[in-house]
Amino acid sequence: MRKMVYRQFSFLFFFCFCLLSFSSSIPHRCHEDESISLLKFKKTLTVDPSSDRCISYSYPNMSSWNKSKDCCSWDRVICDEMTGHVIELDLGCSRLVGKIDSNSSLFRLSHLQRLDLSWNNFLNSHIFPEFGRFSSLTHLNLTNSFFSGQIPSEISHLSKLQSLHLSDLRVGPHNFKLLLQNLTQLRELDLTYVDIYSTIPLNFSSHFITLGLEDTGLYGIIPESIFHLPNLETLDLSSNYQLSGYFPKTKWNSSASLVGLDLSGVNFSCNLPESLGYLTSVHSLSLGNCNLRGPIPESISNLTRIESLYLDGNSLNGTIPSGMFSLPSLSYLSLGSNQFSGQLEDFKSNTLVWIQLQGNRLQGHLPKSIQNLVNLTTLDLSFNNFSGSVDVSLFSDLKQLSYLSLSYNSISLTNEKEVKSSLPESLEYLRLAACDVKELEFLRSAKKLSDLDLSNNKVQGRVPDWAWSTWNFSVSNLNLSHNMLTSMDSIPLQSGYIIDLRSNFLKGSLPIPGNSTAFFFTSENNLSGEIPSSICNLKSVQLLDLARNNLMGAIPQCLGNISSLQVLDMHHNNLSGTLSTAFGIVSELRSLNLHGNELEGKIPRSLANCEALQVLDLGDNHLNDTFPMWLGTLPYLQVLSLRSNKLHGSIRTSSIENMFPQLRLIDLSYNAFSGNLPTSVFQHLKAMRTIDQSLKAPRSSYIESYYQDSITIATKGMDREIVRILYLYTALDLSSNKFRGKIPSILGDLVALHVLSLSHNGLQGQIPSSLRNLSSIESLDLSVNQLSGKIPQQLASLTSLAFLNLSYNHLQGCIPQGPQFHTFENNSYEGNDGLRGFPISKGCGNDQVSETNYTESALDHDQESNSEFLSDFWKGALMGYGSGLCIGLSIIYIMISTGNLKWLARIIEEMEQRIITRRRKKQRGQRYYKRRNNRF
Ligand SMILES: *[C@@H]1O[C@H](CO)[C@@H](O)[C@H](O)[C@H]1NC(C)=O
Ligand SMILES: *[C@@H]1O[C@H](CO)[C@@H](O)[C@H](O)[C@H]1NC(C)=O
Ligand SMILES: *[C@@H]1O[C@H](CO)[C@@H](O)[C@H](O)[C@H]1NC(C)=O
Ligand SMILES: *[C@@H]1O[C@H](CO)[C@@H](O)[C@H](O)[C@H]1NC(C)=O
Ligand SMILES: *[C@@H]1O[C@H](CO)[C@@H](O)[C@H](O)[C@H]1NC(C)=O
Ligand SMILES: *[C@@H]1O[C@H](CO)[C@@H](O)[C@H](O)[C@H]1NC(C)=O
Repeated sequence: MRKMVYRQFSFLFFFCFCLLSFSSSIPHRCHEDESISLLKFKKTLTVDPSSDRCISYSYPNMSSWNKSKDCCSWDRVICDEMTGHVIELDLGCSRLVGKIDSNSSLFRLSHLQRLDLSWNNFLNSHIFPEFGRFSSLTHLNLTNSFFSGQIPSEISHLSKLQSLHLSDLRVGPHNFKLLLQNLTQLRELDLTYVDIYSTIPLNFSSHFITLGLEDTGLYGIIPESIFHLPNLETLDLSSNYQLSGYFPKTKWNSSASLVGLDLSGVNFSCNLPESLGYLTSVHSLSLGNCNLRGPIPESISNLTRIESLYLDGNSLNGTIPSGMFSLPSLSYLSLGSNQFSGQLEDFKSNTLVWIQLQGNRLQGHLPKSIQNLVNLTTLDLSFNNFSGSVDVSLFSDLKQLSYLSLSYNSISLTNEKEVKSSLPESLEYLRLAACDVKELEFLRSAKKLSDLDLSNNKVQGRVPDWAWSTWNFSVSNLNLSHNMLTSMDSIPLQSGYIIDLRSNFLKGSLPIPGNSTAFFFTSENNLSGEIPSSICNLKSVQLLDLARNNLMGAIPQCLGNISSLQVLDMHHNNLSGTLSTAFGIVSELRSLNLHGNELEGKIPRSLANCEALQVLDLGDNHLNDTFPMWLGTLPYLQVLSLRSNKLHGSIRTSSIENMFPQLRLIDLSYNAFSGNLPTSVFQHLKAMRTIDQSLKAPRSSYIESYYQDSITIATKGMDREIVRILYLYTALDLSSNKFRGKIPSILGDLVALHVLSLSHNGLQGQIPSSLRNLSSIESLDLSVNQLSGKIPQQLASLTSLAFLNLSYNHLQGCIPQGPQFHTFENNSYEGNDGLRGFPISKGCGNDQVSETNYTESALDHDQESNSEFLSDFWKGALMGYGSGLCIGLSIIYIMISTGNLKWLARIIEEMEQRIITRRRKKQRGQRYYKRRNNRF
């Protein structure tokens, strides 16, 4: 019996053993042809070990793909258990490089059900119609793998497809509709960055769980049915700026399932609906830049699962509902650039990681509860009306804090605890512009700072030595401008990229920063002595702004050898000697401003090699030369000021065709030029001959927004500084020279002119009636010449004219009458022989001009609307699209001296924030997608 049992047992054991060893040796029956196809496919690919596009992924072991093994055991290859056919190829994030062509052996794997080739580099391979042969395919993922071209209609043959991920391709509106119509099993569709350019069709599968159509050029109106898809979990229609929509008024069918909703950039033009409160499952809600207005509905406090809420860039107003700060999961909150007002409530939930409230109208004290937000990494409260003192200790325990901006409120940063506090070591970006900062002790432990803005504060004296050693290798963007610093012996910043010390009380010699500095500003200080030649160690400097100091001596020759230099501004110093002939040898120079120095000698001919030159201001020096006609070949030269030098001789043209093609501002006043007015130059000047409505300021790079070219010209009887917008300003000033002869009627062809001054010369003859063509002219000065005859009646039609000076000539007859002429006073005409009529006298019979029929010229608007106009202009310029502004009636100068540039800083900050927001969102978005995708 016992034996029996034993036997039975051993038999069983033997049987099991056999079964085990047998099953493990059963071949997966990989099909020979599929194995060969896979090997052939592998041969067309290489692995790029340096690729780091998918850091968190483990890469496949491609060496397991070899003949000696069954292909069903190869890494990332899955076969059907029963048939042995290859049904799954999972090569996403595999660092593969190669080209797939239409006869690729890949297409022979006809049993494939899942194909993932995403996040590789297929070198602009096309998605060939052959992809349509995978008739069993349920999952196809080719996203972010550098496929290009058109998505073929054959994709819509894949009738079993449940999940489709493609990016960066084109799909015509027709194929897009086919896709949605024919692929009735589709649950997951991600066409992010695919050019679709279509409306959204009304009818599509109700199976959808994920719809990713970010930045696909969709337009029209979002069909409401999308919001009612019963299984929808994520919907992304963001960055389709031609798309508009309405929120459902009632409960959405998807409201219980919806986890992620991104409609940023879609135009809603309405209030946020109460019905938002039904989205009780939502984790992430993005409605930035949706043209939303009104208050945030109280129902927002229903969103108890929400982690990310983005409502930035709208016109939302009212107070921020207190419920918002009790949402138990909220981590990312962006309400920047709206019109929220009132006080900030206490933060009741301390899950917050990211708070952006910049650019609103919030007021009152900062809530104490900030100090409890232990996981806070980003806090931006800039550009509000917060007030009161804010002690450094409020932030000192936030050990994750990396971005803090309190700039431009009415707060005063204090450090008054018994033991002085320090900001956390984790800080990387710190913006405390205009925060009444007086000392830097609180930065002692901020060793990771890379971006520090302490501009417009009250920091006095010296920057302490410990600061420089703390910041030496981390700070790349340092702004200490508009403080009361007096000394800066050296700037030992190895990593400084942008260093801004403008408008302090710096004395002594020019400090030279580390050699990686690209943008260096020290204008408006009291620096003196010579410019040390060690400045030429800044081998990659792009912008040097040393203007408005007391620097003297020669301009170092070696500056001309710095090939990266684009802007050199040294205006208003005491620099002397001759101009370096080195300029132009290896030159990217775009702007050279040496106005107001003591320079002598000739204008170096080498400047003609500065092909990129747009602005050249050598005014107010002692240059002694003839007119540099040779500058006429510079293709981009827009602004040329040589005013107030010792330039002389008559201006004769050369035979060069198309001279000064872009020049729109030329100032030769206060020299000794003689002879006739240079008619032959006027024949060129292409840019002054057309009024280009589409004219835009050049696209401004991030850094150009810190620096604006400026020029001083005489307009409307006084000198004004024109900034930045000078690229749109057209002016010709030849006043205070020794020109003789007549005013050539060809001047009337320069129709874009805003300012024309020929005063204080010896011009004779009549005022040509062709000047009536100067339809944009705002300031016309022909005073102190020998002009005779009548004032042409036609000038009365110049409706933009705001300033006219014809005094001290020999003009006679009746003063023309018209709306603008009616505003000029006696002094416009005094010192002439025989002018009559209004305003001087009666007696021309036509004095009864209607006083009601003209509106005040836009030119007389106050400073306020001036900067409003400019702020819009700037937004346009910064975002890379023009504002289509009509120059003629616009205020186009800012007086820097009086200007409050807060609005400008604000716009720059906003732009930056938007970029950062977008980037962070994108990063998180990708992670989020990954997480979600893993569930399928
Ligand atoms: C590609 O998409 C599929 C869903 O079809 C998903 O499972 C897979 O993770 C995606 N691949 C990558 C690398 O994200
Ligand atoms: C769309 O589906 C229908 C029916 O399944 C089929 O006849 C048609 O060929 C498909 N069209 C395309 C372009 O795939
Ligand atoms: C808030 O959610 C509850 C269910 O949790 C629901 O009954 C209520 O209608 C919601 N309120 C709004 C305004 O959506
Ligand atoms: C919000 O803006 C609307 C106009 O869109 C205005 O009528 C309303 O008074 C504003 N409310 C507050 C609190 O500012
Ligand atoms: C802070 O973050 C940590 C790590 O992510 C987490 O475990 C903790 O719960 C968070 N604290 C709060 C208050 O959310
Ligand atoms: C900058 O200076 C360091 C030493 O001060 C030197 O090693 C480095 O080569 C310099 N870089 C350039 C671009 O001149």
